[in-house]
Amino acid sequence: MRYKLGLIGHPIGHSLSPWIHKHFLDLAGLDGEYKLYEGDHQQLPNVLKYLKQEGIDGFNVTVPYKQMIVDFLDEIDEDARILGAVNTVVLQNGKWKGYSTDGAGYIRSLTDPFPNLLNKNTSVLLLGAGGAARGIYRALIQEEIGRVDIANRSVVKAEQLIASMRFPGVDTQVLTFQEAEEYLGHYDLIIQTTSVGMKPHVDQQVLSLENLSADTVVSDIVYQPIMTQLLQDASDRGASIHHGHAMLLYQGQLAFEKWTGQSLEIHHLVDELEKKLRG
Ligand code: ATR
Repeated sequence: MRYKLGLIGHPIGHSLSPWIHKHFLDLAGLDGEYKLYEGDHQQLPNVLKYLKQEGIDGFNVTVPYKQMIVDFLDEIDEDARILGAVNTVVLQNGKWKGYSTDGAGYIRSLTDPFPNLLNKNTSVLLLGAGGAARGIYRALIQEEIGRVDIANRSVVKAEQLIASMRFPGVDTQVLTFQEAEEYLGHYDLIIQTTSVGMKPHVDQQVLSLENLSADTVVSDIVYQPIMTQLLQDASDRGASIHHGHAMLLYQGQLAFEKWTGQSLEIHHLVDELEKKLRG
């Protein structure tokens, strides 16, 4: 069998997914391809029709299709339904089924280097309340983490995020960035999910790390640049850091599992992708 896989979205010319899935196919010893299907979002039903005719086995979905594709699929996994977003689609018996692997992929990327970090005593601060934060928040509460606070520029948006998936047993508070700065030393893990940091010459950090404890792990899902200002600052203060490209690999690993049924050991690719990104 030759697997036909790919990515739909716009713009996707610089996507790392073909590199990632080529490595996964090789690791699995499978024959296959992973192609970019760049398109105009007005054309989504036509794109899906075309992919079915092509005999595609599955594909990833990125901006701007992640939310709108929900209406065009035959089945949606529960996590993706609650998040209102899909990043992985599988064609099974002629039907499209959608999943979201971002949150669970993030957790895998974190527990790979920090296997004991997440438990019922862990305190997490999530920075941001957009699409990426939603997926990660949901995955964290499913892990039954003790406390997950959210700080966001728009406090209302953070409150809406929590209200949309309230989960008993997890303490959650919405904070302003200023409040978060004050309590910073109490957290075991800080996860930066906003787009701030992608433009190193323009962007400031979302918050000051002045009160950071060296025992805290600081994670930034921004992967270009691989060393964001926030991670550099955290590292300079003696904290452990976690780079965003690892999430990209592990959400891909989960997607690959859904398409092929193969669970791959991909630990070594984290360093390889880091080397590639550092040029
Ligand atoms: P994504 O899907 O990548 O999460 P998104 O849904 O557009 O993207 O969410 C962007 C996140 O980055 C939001 O938390 C946003 O904050 P607001 O909800 O207050 O808009 C945050 N963000 C973007 N630019 C920001 C900035 N300059 N300062 C602080 N937060 C910012």
